[in-house]
Amino acid sequence: MTYREGAEKYYDLFGAKADGPFYIGLAKEHGGKALELGVGTARLAIQLAREGIETWGIDNSPHMLRAADANLAKELVEVRERIHLELADVRDFSLGEGFGLVYFPSFSFDHLLERADQLKALEAIRAHVAPDGVYAFDLAHVPELRADSSWFVQRKPIDERNTVVRTGHHSTDPERRLMTINLWYEHYFDGRMTERYFEGGEVYVHTPDGIWGLLTESGFKVEDWYGGHEEQEFSDESAMMVVVARPV
Ligand SMILES: C[S@@+](CC[C@H](N)C(=O)[O-])C[C@H]1O[C@@H](n2cnc3c(N)ncnc32)[C@H](O)[C@@H]1O
Repeated sequence: MTYREGAEKYYDLFGAKADGPFYIGLAKEHGGKALELGVGTARLAIQLAREGIETWGIDNSPHMLRAADANLAKELVEVRERIHLELADVRDFSLGEGFGLVYFPSFSFDHLLERADQLKALEAIRAHVAPDGVYAFDLAHVPELRADSSWFVQRKPIDERNTVVRTGHHSTDPERRLMTINLWYEHYFDGRMTERYFEGGEVYVHTPDGIWGLLTESGFKVEDWYGGHEEQEFSDESAMMVVVARPV
């Protein structure tokens, strides 16, 4: 995905998730200092900071970070002061300190398509986990990846006069384990389209074995492996993998 200019406008409208309590619980359990990778609009970082957690966030999209700044401006000063944002790439960053929780939410590790990039990111991540800390992330789980494609349409009213319609198309290449995602956003004011924005790209669809192998090769040991953010048991039918790992 590109997250170029415009992506930040619609992310929060379609990006609601119930992952906050999971990452807040882990941050509190591991010393109350957290680092979010691919922090985006700070949707989740703000939830942690409201709970008193000092939260750092990195992202390589200046547009998403600009939206994060705008969201932070609506928060109380003490919440704002607990959040520290930096423009940086997860494959090559150095904040010079360790965190009790490093987390990569919203399936974002799948944005790294090449194994070399995945390993580089895990090396940088490992260097930022404090001695008793953990690295946690979630990813889609697709039990059987088939060559298929599908369309969907979602409509989100902003207020009485403004509505955004998102039309999406997914197609899958099982051999390369890549999914291509195309998203068209249309903004309607009183029923007339006033703006159109396209966002697209590829994501890598990981397998549980593949993730296990990447973590082991990068010096992590899996501590917990759930099927959802409410710590559901993971099974073949789970729609996601939620993983907590420790450096060994
Ligand atoms: C799906 S969004 C998740 C945003 C936020 N973490 C959330 O949960 O709402 C993925 C984010 O990862 C960022 N991103 C993608 N590749 C990245 C990379 N290589 N380094 C840093 N950030 C990256 C994107 O710019 C985007 O903001």
